[in-house]
Amino acid sequence: MYGQPHRFKHALPAARWPSVEEAGAALWFSPLRLGRSCTARARTWVPAMVPWRASDDGLVTPEVLDWYERFAEGKPGVLVVEATGIRDVPSGPLLRIGHDRFVPGLRALVERVRRASGGETRLFIQVIDFLAIKRRPAKDKFFERFLALRDEHRRALAARARAAGETDRQAERWLAAPDADVRAALAALDDDALAGVLDARELESYRMGYRERVTDVHLPHVRALPEVLPGLFAAAAARAEVAGFDGVELHYAHAYTMASFLSALNTRADGYGGTREGRVRLPLEVYRAARAAVGADFVVGVRYLGDDVIDGGNHLDDAVWLGVAMARAGVDYLSVSKGGKFEDAKQPKVGEAAYPYTGPSGHECMPTIYIDARGPFGRNVPLAAAIRAAVRAAGLETPVVASGGIMDFDQAEGILRRGEADAVAAARQTLADPDWFEKVRLGRGAEVRRCKFTNYCEGLDQKHKQVTCQQWDRVFDAGEQPAEAPAATRAEEPAEASVVGAAPRTAAEQPPQRRVPMSNDGKRRLIAPRWNP
Ligand SMILES: Cc1cc2nc3c(=O)[nH]c(=O)nc-3n(C[C@H](O)[C@H](O)[C@H](O)COP(=O)(O)O)c2cc1C
Ligand code: SF4
Repeated sequence: MYGQPHRFKHALPAARWPSVEEAGAALWFSPLRLGRSCTARARTWVPAMVPWRASDDGLVTPEVLDWYERFAEGKPGVLVVEATGIRDVPSGPLLRIGHDRFVPGLRALVERVRRASGGETRLFIQVIDFLAIKRRPAKDKFFERFLALRDEHRRALAARARAAGETDRQAERWLAAPDADVRAALAALDDDALAGVLDARELESYRMGYRERVTDVHLPHVRALPEVLPGLFAAAAARAEVAGFDGVELHYAHAYTMASFLSALNTRADGYGGTREGRVRLPLEVYRAARAAVGADFVVGVRYLGDDVIDGGNHLDDAVWLGVAMARAGVDYLSVSKGGKFEDAKQPKVGEAAYPYTGPSGHECMPTIYIDARGPFGRNVPLAAAIRAAVRAAGLETPVVASGGIMDFDQAEGILRRGEADAVAAARQTLADPDWFEKVRLGRGAEVRRCKFTNYCEGLDQKHKQVTCQQWDRVFDAGEQPAEAPAATRAEEPAEASVVGAAPRTAAEQPPQRRVPMSNDGKRRLIAPRWNP
């Protein structure tokens, strides 16, 4: 059973930065072959991060171009563009690739990245499918409109009436009562009583908002996923190639459709669930369809979970088996993430949708300094290491990418030297300072703006607001307090938190607040300030 372990407040470890010579000899800055002929000039990697900058129609905007240009200026070996929807359906300001009309914008994105990185960054795009999730309804609306009445609801009301002292005859009026009366009676029950009247799915829809699962095979479109998804992913991969990307990353991680197929929670009985062989069947079919839709040199990689971190979900032994199966099928790399599931998400407010990074599995996906004794730094590396060891033991050379709390050179280089991964990814550290790879490579690591690992950025993501970093998104006048993270989403400091690794700073020891120039129109700064090497 996963829960909230005792949490500590961890200090950011002191970092040692290499000289230019040491960096020049480092594995992290050595080339990595991906697929048949794609070579990344370094094993530095920026994993997908949704910045919520697409248009409401899923198109590339000038803000999207600026965002990726800024990352490309830091010349990572690989830059993975955010989760991009494979269907041609409205999905808010999430990038989409489900129709040819999205290609020109994506081509412009590729061109910007090529120019900004001097052609040195390999550019992949993550492609995603997700099932429906609805906002948490208000109680009256749920009972008036959303709940599908069943005889069990009527019988439960009759039983409650009997228990309250009514005669059988009086109580049985509920069995034939008008729907409106039944709905009103249910709406009048408190949450404890409702837990005894609604079934588990109804209760979930009431408390969290309705959410589809891959096991909802009574829904024709869910039953048909194995017929539909290979074609959709393949078409997306083909468009990515036409747009000029170096590769596509199949999103098999976190809370989305393909991860749900892989998960041990997938009990589908149609050959696409149950056993590991059944669960990996559709992901392999999707991979093969994508592979067949693109040229042999185009990279087709996978991001998936080393551990679902939810009760009944996959654990490392599943992930190892699945990783070997996907490597055998020929995927060009395995990028390992962890958790990020709906199953343990916090209850959203009425009118908001559940967010899969708010529960224990979410805390493992984007760990903060407020976590258990192991701390957030490099926390998920053992998953990648075990998967890589099994892939190598199976005689396969598939590169494995590690991520999660990676924040300095020694850590990244150590991971590579110990053979725990073939590339080392950093999302939030690169958001805090998109130039950090170049600073380290040029022996100027002391200038790195280090991530604080408190998830202000993730709080913005949760609210589908344009993602920025608390360290550069606004002006701090002398004496002014730094802007607060969005209250509902800031990593909360637990009352019992203790500091690990360093004594807490006194006010006098706080670093001076830096002045960050604001954009001309006085709005939030949307990309990191530029560095003059
Ligand atoms: C704002 C934000 C958006 C993210 N969006 C995605 C995404 O689109 N796809 C994905 O696989 N992971 C996504 N992630 C997870 C990161 O890729 C990464 O796995 C996670 O942040 C842990 O790595 P880090 O400790 O280096 O930040 C996102 C993370 C953040 C902070
Ligand atoms: S907002 Fe905080 S956690 Fe996110 S990148 Fe910036 S410093 Fe790191």
